Amino acid sequence: MAKKNQTLGEFIIENQAAFPFSSGELSRLINSIRLAAKVVNHEVNKAGLVDITGAAGETNIQGEDQQKLDVYANEKFIQTLTNREIVCGIASEENDDFITISGQKNDHQNKYVVLMDPLDGSSNIDVNVSVGTIFSIYRRVTPLGTPVQLEDFLQPGHKQVAAGYVVYGTSTMLVYTTGHGVNGFTLNPALGSWYLSHPDMKFPEDGRIYSVNEGNYVHFPQGVKDYIKYCQQEEGERPYTSRYIGSLVSDFHRNMIKGGIYIYPTTSKAPDGKLRLLYECNPMAYIAEQAGGKASDGFRRIMDIEPKELHQRVPFFCGNSEMVEKVEDFMAR
Ligand code: AHG
Ligand code: MN
Ligand code: MN
Repeated sequence: MAKKNQTLGEFIIENQAAFPFSSGELSRLINSIRLAAKVVNHEVNKAGLVDITGAAGETNIQGEDQQKLDVYANEKFIQTLTNREIVCGIASEENDDFITISGQKNDHQNKYVVLMDPLDGSSNIDVNVSVGTIFSIYRRVTPLGTPVQLEDFLQPGHKQVAAGYVVYGTSTMLVYTTGHGVNGFTLNPALGSWYLSHPDMKFPEDGRIYSVNEGNYVHFPQGVKDYIKYCQQEEGERPYTSRYIGSLVSDFHRNMIKGGIYIYPTTSKAPDGKLRLLYECNPMAYIAEQAGGKASDGFRRIMDIEPKELHQRVPFFCGNSEMVEKVEDFMAR
């Protein structure tokens, strides 16, 4: 039973004990992610300072080359997962191809692959607005002991074993699911420990927030235009409130706590949508469903889509169940 203020370490041990036949590999994997998240958090927090300390010659105070934060986050997550010998493969939004982990004592013996968006909302970094990290974990489908293959990564979202995100916000939180509800942990930066602050997170019954980049309105499909007009109509609880941060993690996090829907539809400029199925939509969809919400591409469940390529994009409608169903109604007309 999850206890508020329990540390993430205690929570993992306790939950591991509840699955007597599991090897502990997944627990160790989540442990590596919480470590990498702390390292990235530290860097995100001094994003403004690095410019100052590194002003001369593009190097920071340790003499290392300065890097863009998304590249840094990508490297830290990959490094941590590789050093701890905890996964057999990694796919990232920042890499063209997947990475095969090899050259270790237990070569290709780990059963999990990780897919991630190491830094989500990167346009917000320079302006001190919340960004995030998204991760998704699958059991490999090819035999242990052999190098991972593309098919290990191209699995539909309903095959996910775990998924989560880190939001580097006013406080830093790690929110994840292993298929038994969603739990949120807040980092105490002084101690470097994560505490269970949001046990068993659920979307509230009613949602009144819609999050969409309305600047693209003219390029939206008619169903989305109609839904936006519906949100703005004066009737009952409507008009709804419009909130859009431009970082999926932050928009989703707020909507899950307060009740709302996030929409990134197809546009005439992005005919397949903008968000990536494997790194962004599937993990958020898993969390949404575990929190009593829904995720759709406007017509069908996100987690039922059979991926065709690593960097595949899809339209994304995610949030309170009723709101997602409503916009699906408009899309179907
Ligand atoms: P990323 O920073 O990983 O490229 O993702 C940005 C995504 C998502 O987080 C955000 O909601 C969306 O792009 C914003 O797109 P627009 O600027 O087109 O609204
Ligand atoms: Mn992203
Ligand atoms: Mn990104």
